[in-house]
Amino acid sequence: MFKNKFEQGRKFNFLINKIYHLLFSEKFSKKINFNFDNKHRLDLIKYVIRKNDYKTYLEIGCHNNEVFDKIEIEKVGVDPESGGNFRDTSDKFFEQNKLKFDCIFIDGLHEYDQVRKDILNSIKILNKNGVIILHDCLPSSINHQRVPRTRYIWNGDVWKAIVEARTWQHINTYTVLSDQGLGVIKKEKNSMILNIENLTYKNLKYKFFYENYSKIMRTISYEKILEII
Ligand SMILES: C[S@@+](CC[C@H](N)C(=O)[O-])C[C@H]1O[C@@H](n2cnc3c(N)ncnc32)[C@H](O)[C@@H]1O
Repeated sequence: MFKNKFEQGRKFNFLINKIYHLLFSEKFSKKINFNFDNKHRLDLIKYVIRKNDYKTYLEIGCHNNEVFDKIEIEKVGVDPESGGNFRDTSDKFFEQNKLKFDCIFIDGLHEYDQVRKDILNSIKILNKNGVIILHDCLPSSINHQRVPRTRYIWNGDVWKAIVEARTWQHINTYTVLSDQGLGVIKKEKNSMILNIENLTYKNLKYKFFYENYSKIMRTISYEKILEII
């Protein structure tokens, strides 16, 4: 049966959320096979730190420090529950922070509104030649991106914040086809601006993502992004 009280509570929440989606949300059964390569977010983060001789790293959402512990430069890790070295939400961190960073990894609450805020706050404190990396940008099915969440393995709707970022003039945004989709944001003129107007990004449909993900997310291979970052 259930392993512990925490998991039992979660399973119950997932069931309630499934009923909610059954009644009120988009229905779409097709899945995407992204053919992700075997590269991990840590490979990309370590590569960009080494290549650009970065000195400072910020991670939003650290969980069990799978990545955070392996970063060997000056670092801050933000998480309200576990891991890192700043025990609060990203909003609280940004409210009081005075530091700037070379590499920022956004992997906290995987919901559009929060990811959008985390991106905007991160841009403000990113050093000139810095990079922002985001995890979980490519959900392979509608259930992987449902908000509220219905399953343990979950990407959330991070992708909607990436689509919005793709329309901004002052940043360049890509999505690497590795490790559930790694968003990459550089602070420079947008060289391939996405023109989609009159949109409420939060209400974008998974069907739209399914049909257009390559263009709207600007997908790129791991090898190609290494030349860019
Ligand atoms: C997917 S895990 C992070 C995994 C980790 N970055 C890694 O690469 O292994 C997401 C984490 O985000 C944290 N989190 C949730 N809401 C957050 C928030 N508002 N601000 C910062 N972290 C948050 C959770 O507590 C959880 O530990």
